[in-house]
Amino acid sequence: MLLLRELTGNPSADLRKMTFPNYRPMLDMTGRGKGICALASYSGNKVSGLILGRFENKEAEMLSVYVNPFFRKKGIASMLLKQFEKKAAAAGCSKIKAAFTSAMPSFGAVKRLFEKNGWSKPQKRMKLIYFSRENLYREIQENPRYEKYKNALLPKGFELVKWCELQPEKIAQIKSRHNQPGGWTDDNTPFREPEKMEKLNSFAILKDDSVAGWFITHRINPDTIRYTQIYNDPVANGMRGIIIQTVIHAYWLHAMYGPEKGCFIIYEWNTSLLKIFEKLMEKLTDSCTESFGVEKDIGQD
Ligand SMILES: CC(C)(COP(=O)(O)OP(=O)(O)OC[C@H]1O[C@@H](n2cnc3c(N)ncnc32)[C@H](O)[C@@H]1OP(=O)(O)O)[C@@H](O)C(=O)NCCC(=O)NCCS
Repeated sequence: MLLLRELTGNPSADLRKMTFPNYRPMLDMTGRGKGICALASYSGNKVSGLILGRFENKEAEMLSVYVNPFFRKKGIASMLLKQFEKKAAAAGCSKIKAAFTSAMPSFGAVKRLFEKNGWSKPQKRMKLIYFSRENLYREIQENPRYEKYKNALLPKGFELVKWCELQPEKIAQIKSRHNQPGGWTDDNTPFREPEKMEKLNSFAILKDDSVAGWFITHRINPDTIRYTQIYNDPVANGMRGIIIQTVIHAYWLHAMYGPEKGCFIIYEWNTSLLKIFEKLMEKLTDSCTESFGVEKDIGQD
């Protein structure tokens, strides 16, 4: 017999293993009114599956779903998903979204799971490109462009400042441009995951002493820097060429002093970055995966 139960803190070790390490702390926060919802399935007296997500501002996000291999293809994930949708609607959400990558061993199953439960067609969101520091180092030795830019020789008026050394008034200046006409939006925020921000090569790009852009990296695990965000303020003219120099400088620092791996994110909408990728990254790439987004209107019933 299958039973679904909502978690209220204190998850067992078996349950903790059923979501990604990054999300495990969220399991402890279930049942505390923080908009986090986890449902476990029990087949007989064994825990067979777990779905985890959050509800925020009328939108729900399904973060992970896992079914123990022994219990797969019996409709358990579909039941967990349906129940999660009901909980989201009951919490006042009108939309639910989720993401998955082509690197997941269960890629086919995940795609089918959403399709059969009436979610949207998967939309390509971003490419994740992985490279090794070894490849980066070799490229730097062979390509004179890196020698030229290792000190980021920017034109007059421009300056790169390490993000961790940015003065509080500059941070306040950036915050004041959030969602302003021509300003940055949540898509290009530099403030996501501050606890993982990489000190080695996250920069603010200053033009005439004002913040005109940023280049943000994160240490996603001890041996990998993720290149998360490149942004230049559309109001700041003359940024052409600055971004590419910033990228090269950041790579140089990584090759000399950084960890063994790097991972580069390119969002589908970021066509200029795709061009930079073609120029700089193709030779370095070890592997490439794609990430997809799906969503569903859940309304109120
Ligand atoms: C993805 C996963 C949760 C599916 O669990 P499940 O309980 O087997 O799923 P369901 O039984 O509800 O099946 C849903 C649909 O996917 C299909 N499916 C299941 N496994 C499949 C596979 N390996 N290949 C293709 N389709 C598959 C099912 O046949 C069903 O479609 P159908 O009704 O048309 O036959 C499970 O494979 C899993 O835990 N994978 C590892 C974790 C993971 O990658 N999670 C997703 C990212 S967060």
